Amino acid sequence: MSLLKELITIDDKSEVSVYLQITNLIIHHIRHGRLRKGLKLPGSRELAVMLGINRMTVVAAYQELEAQGWIEMLPKKGTFVKANLPVLSPKQLAGNVADFSLPEQPGFNYDQKRIIPVAFSDFPPTDKLAFNDGFPDVRLAPIEEFTRCMRSLSRLSANKKYLQYGGAQGTLLLRQTLANFLCDTRGLSITADNILITKGSQMGIFIATSVIINPGDEVIVGVPGYRMANLTFQQLGAKLIYVPVDEDGMDINAVEKLCEKKKIRLVYVIPHHHNPTTVTLSPERRMHLLKLATKYRFAIIEDDYDYDFHYSSKPIMPMASYDSKGNVIYIGTLTKTFAPAVRLGFIVAPKEFIQTATYFRKHIDMQGDSLMENAIAELYKDGTIARHIKKSVKLYKERRDHFCDCLQKELTGHISFKVPDGGMSVYTTFLKHDLKIISRKAFDKGLIMKDGTTFDVGKQQFNAIRLGFASLNFKEQLQALKIIREVMNMKL
Ligand SMILES: Cc1ncc(COP(=O)(O)O)c(C=O)c1O
Repeated sequence: MSLLKELITIDDKSEVSVYLQITNLIIHHIRHGRLRKGLKLPGSRELAVMLGINRMTVVAAYQELEAQGWIEMLPKKGTFVKANLPVLSPKQLAGNVADFSLPEQPGFNYDQKRIIPVAFSDFPPTDKLAFNDGFPDVRLAPIEEFTRCMRSLSRLSANKKYLQYGGAQGTLLLRQTLANFLCDTRGLSITADNILITKGSQMGIFIATSVIINPGDEVIVGVPGYRMANLTFQQLGAKLIYVPVDEDGMDINAVEKLCEKKKIRLVYVIPHHHNPTTVTLSPERRMHLLKLATKYRFAIIEDDYDYDFHYSSKPIMPMASYDSKGNVIYIGTLTKTFAPAVRLGFIVAPKEFIQTATYFRKHIDMQGDSLMENAIAELYKDGTIARHIKKSVKLYKERRDHFCDCLQKELTGHISFKVPDGGMSVYTTFLKHDLKIISRKAFDKGLIMKDGTTFDVGKQQFNAIRLGFASLNFKEQLQALKIIREVMNMKL
């Protein structure tokens, strides 16, 4: 069969091995109909002679083609192009492609309403300014160091194992490194066994809550509060009970009153820089809450999403650092320290809880990105992350001060706000103008900002938003405020 001699030309200079070249060429000619279904191919010895190569190379190519389902080798009969070929081309499989497009609705039944819709957006456009909710300036993220570290780790043969399944709890290296870091910086007396690595704190909230509550259980949250967590609690079947938040954080006397009447399973707090208001839970209230947790046996989720960014004094130690009874589940994240898209967070809790939470995590996702986890561990160890935090805190403090000065000057009389001790946003209440209108008009002028409905609960409307200052330089801050001012002067 000299046809194959015509069709197969081996490129000696190619980096692709000869047996793969033969495999790929035969597939190519089958696809294009030059080697028809059912065609008998020459034996391996014959083809080897024809091509002037070693017979074992042809055997390897035939084995590969058989494994992929292109040919069949029948004992005593020979080697044939298969009658039932694998995927030929999408066009042939789907018939006339132009007649077919995926329907909008699935063909099966499911209860769509069981899933609570959440706002999700694409990546922010680069041609618009944005007041985000308080996110870091990703232009500063040590991405070069991170990718360099990933590259050098992936080259080491000892690290090939991290490409395998394993490490559902997170790599030991990262958990050990993080345990030391959290001990040194936040007074958490923990080991690697007390940590579960997650993809950001949102996953931590979801996992911890799933493990703690049953549908119908009552969960206390602050009002105003962090909407995404509230929706997650509701998605998991929780009944939310709202407790006011004032300048000292969540009203713990109100929590106590509720505990006297109801079985509370979980209290969700953001003690350091509360979202949205940025207030800090006072030390007295923290102690009170811990005592209540022991007395009424509820769990506390302490969401410490932006611990590193505190400007006024030294950051206050997390409640978890003095929780000797094991009632606090401490949730942290690197998404504010590094960049939101670097999905790495952690849960800190008693060992038994972490084990159970790890089982649950595995149901969602077999494991995290182990190489990335180790790269982050290396960046902790070589001081890159500590340096980045130091640099960012200095810069964000300057940006906070600049922003608050400008906010006061540009919008005085129209807004109220308190200079935040930490975090990356200023919680700003608009006194005279409807934020829904401001937000719509600002968008038309190139500024993205929320519409102030995020924190509303029932009839309680706050007409307030978090104005994220950290990701805007001085010039951008001024441009954004100018747009708001222009919009507000337009007699709304
Ligand atoms: C209070 C709070 N918790 C959790 C998160 C979610 O963070 P992550 O990106 O780590 O999931 C955020 C995000 O801004 C937040 O503000």
